[in-house]
Amino acid sequence: MPRWTAARLKALLAGAFDGERVLVLANREPCRHDLLPDGRVAATRTASGLVTAVEPVVQACGGVWIAHGAGTADRLVVDHHDHVGVPEGNPDYCIRRLWLPDDEYAGYYGGFANEGLWPLCHDVGVPAVFRPADFRHYQSANARFARAAIEEGDTPAPLVLVHDYHLALTPRLIRRGLPNGTIVTFWHIPWPGRRQMARCPSAGEIMAGLLGSDILGFQTQLDCERFIDSVSLIAGASVDASDVSVTLGGRRTLLRVYPIAIEYPSRWVRPTPPRQVCRDRVRRRIGAAADAQLVLGVDRLDYTKGIVEKCLAMERLLESAPEYRGRLVMAQIAEPSREALPAYREARAQVVAAVARINARFGAGAYQPIVLREWHHEPAEVFEFMRAADVCHVGSLRDGMNLVAKEFVAARTDGRGVLLLSQHAGAAEQLHGALLIDPRQVGATAVTLAAALAMPVPEQARRLAAMRACVADANLYWWAGQMLHDAADLRDARRRPPSATAETRAGQWLSA
Ligand code: G6P
Repeated sequence: MPRWTAARLKALLAGAFDGERVLVLANREPCRHDLLPDGRVAATRTASGLVTAVEPVVQACGGVWIAHGAGTADRLVVDHHDHVGVPEGNPDYCIRRLWLPDDEYAGYYGGFANEGLWPLCHDVGVPAVFRPADFRHYQSANARFARAAIEEGDTPAPLVLVHDYHLALTPRLIRRGLPNGTIVTFWHIPWPGRRQMARCPSAGEIMAGLLGSDILGFQTQLDCERFIDSVSLIAGASVDASDVSVTLGGRRTLLRVYPIAIEYPSRWVRPTPPRQVCRDRVRRRIGAAADAQLVLGVDRLDYTKGIVEKCLAMERLLESAPEYRGRLVMAQIAEPSREALPAYREARAQVVAAVARINARFGAGAYQPIVLREWHHEPAEVFEFMRAADVCHVGSLRDGMNLVAKEFVAARTDGRGVLLLSQHAGAAEQLHGALLIDPRQVGATAVTLAAALAMPVPEQARRLAAMRACVADANLYWWAGQMLHDAADLRDARRRPPSATAETRAGQWLSA
């Protein structure tokens, strides 16, 4: 089978959804506009795995991306339909911006989505908070997204792609306005166990909202199985194991697994300098000795990412193997995230305190064992760090997929480097060449880290080659392609005259 490419995706869309609007709904806009101090407007691409994965789909079909307008100059650049073309000058798709009042946004995004659903679904010890007022804001924000989709879906049977836990209620609302549309929803984060889900006072509504979709996609088999298990929380819903679907109110939703992926070949690989250049540059930049071994972490600063546990594993290794002192550095890129929320401020304080303590304990002169870089890094720089590293440490306590793990594999065209990967990240189901760890087992992680640092080069190359094959085949065009294939099949089946269905054929034969 030829590899999935942007062109193949485009051909699939043109064949199956010819002339139909393709709409993407996601809270984050792929590009925001902000006012600079000198009065000019700057456009910035949003750094997010979701944007990286979904943008090629809208690009391939010239679709519309409906998102919350978050930039300070977002209103200045839209037309009277709240549209702006991307990229500027030569647009290949358009963003439709929604303006959510501040209190609604705080309750919907900060409150229900990120203080409620996010900790509920990740279940890593941070309690989920559900406030009735937040849920009301979540309902009204979801209704705004749905209204915009209904307005934009002005072809007979549009394709609507809904993303993530911010928009769980929209599929059902959209269905009312676009009864002939094909709605595919992708849930990017883990789905929790039934008991955990039951802690959400609006669990039934959330799930019923999602079941407005024709297809509901998950990252892993486990997430899908847990969703099936949670179906008992919705009155009147039933599971059909034969085609893995759930029926509610006479409507059937197919449940499917589509592990999210990265662009392959990645556009950032070619411009990244050779390994030795990256090693020299990065070591200089972080103040490490020229021959120091480098462990890399790249995360949003989030309590689910296990950043403190990674620091503790470093500490344990420096304690138990003094030969690493002065010679081993962990560089942790920690992109600021959701800083308005107390749990994130607390998580940051814990990371900063752990780094300070460990550096005070094992630092000497210019040597700092952990270098914390708490700011946004552009992909070009991240790829340079990845190619410079001896080990990439992904230590999520729980993670839907984790695209950093896949990007590290893509970056290592030189066949060097070891991936240390949490068994609780969705990526662990696919990346069999990684060394798996349980991040909470700090001692065992330190032992595995030492094994990674000592791994012979041929073994590094062998493991990376296996993972590269997976990342190359199951790339993001494949990810989107699977989803769109399933959507196209469903649409075809719906359009076929009823006489062609197996039941009717059987009926005709019986009455003959
Ligand atoms: C992570 C999750 C995505 C989610 C995104 C939102 O990347 O895996 O599922 O959409 O965070 O991040 P934000 O910065 O928009 O809160």
